[in-house]
Amino acid sequence: MSKGKILVTGGTGYIGSHTTVELIEQGYEVVIIDNLSNSQEFVIDRIEQITGVRPKFYKLDLLDAESLDQCFAENTDLKGIIHFAAAKAVGESVKKPLYYYRNNLQTMINVLEAMIKYNLENFVFSSSCTVYGQPDELPVTENAPVKTAESPYGYTKQVNENILKDTIASGAKLKGIALRYFNPIGAHHSGLIGELPIGVPANLMPFITQTAYGIREQLSVFGDDYSTPDGSCIRDYIHVVDLAKAHIVAIERMIDGKNKEAYEIFNIGTGNGFSVFEVIKSFEKSTGIKLHYKVVPRRAGDIEQIWADTTIGNNELGWKAEKSIDEMTLSAWKWEQNYRKSIQ
Ligand code: WQD
Repeated sequence: MSKGKILVTGGTGYIGSHTTVELIEQGYEVVIIDNLSNSQEFVIDRIEQITGVRPKFYKLDLLDAESLDQCFAENTDLKGIIHFAAAKAVGESVKKPLYYYRNNLQTMINVLEAMIKYNLENFVFSSSCTVYGQPDELPVTENAPVKTAESPYGYTKQVNENILKDTIASGAKLKGIALRYFNPIGAHHSGLIGELPIGVPANLMPFITQTAYGIREQLSVFGDDYSTPDGSCIRDYIHVVDLAKAHIVAIERMIDGKNKEAYEIFNIGTGNGFSVFEVIKSFEKSTGIKLHYKVVPRRAGDIEQIWADTTIGNNELGWKAEKSIDEMTLSAWKWEQNYRKSIQ
């Protein structure tokens, strides 16, 4: 007996696919919408391979409000939506601001308008710790001030949080939870799904695993002259499966009417900060591979250090990240190896 049907936008993406697996394994039926602009359709096969269930898949762009409406009309029994679909490359957003503003903001508006039209109430939004910029105090709590975004990408996350908050405040029959992710890394233990950046990876973990596999010559460490213990930047890395599980807890909080406010925000991190050098050390320890890297000048837009205060998330959601940094780096490596072998 299904617990109900959940729509996952961006469900063939990195976090979306892991969340779909967790939803199915916890008894939900999943409908995926994705335009495959930054993911591949074989992920649907992998989800079926892992869970034994093939989610219904709509290949459509959320900018196409008519097609989106058709999808909602065909799924009037939806219990909630988890909205991942968005462009998410910080550097690319600086080069293509208009694309980022149209894509990330208009799709959010289209989804919310469809929800209101079809009386669908429960909405989980994929937000980001990027909204905090460089916090004045660490660990950073949900009450920390939102700072001027460092990129159009980060700004779309801030604007979308306000779009959700203001729509709910306007009296729309809607409940929303914004999950502010820290740095998701790692992969499902099967090695069948994982992070699949197109082109040269912008993010640290896939660059590490591609270097270890020999696809990249060496990792560039963007600066070792920060005011941190070893000079490299610190981030709160969280295993993508821990992150995925937080989404199920969040959507169930609303389905079960346990949310205390119509709009809530939660940090989704581990509460631990690791430097770039510490992530490299963890990767070398968990895989036994010596990583080639060189220190280069800082990357524009990088903040120095951030990690989450997880008190509210732990206490209110009853959710806590469980996996260690070594499990994160090892699972990322297993995925890289399996993926490269599967495309040979
Ligand atoms: C982590 C650390 C880099 C690559 C961004 C977005 C965030 C989320 C995750 C979408 C930094 C260093 C990186 C490399 C390096 N994106 N680094 N060499 O920038 O913290 O977060 O991606 O949801 O919203 O802001 O993640 O993995 O790019 O960088 O030294 O080749 O690794 O300087 O200190 P970031 P990242």
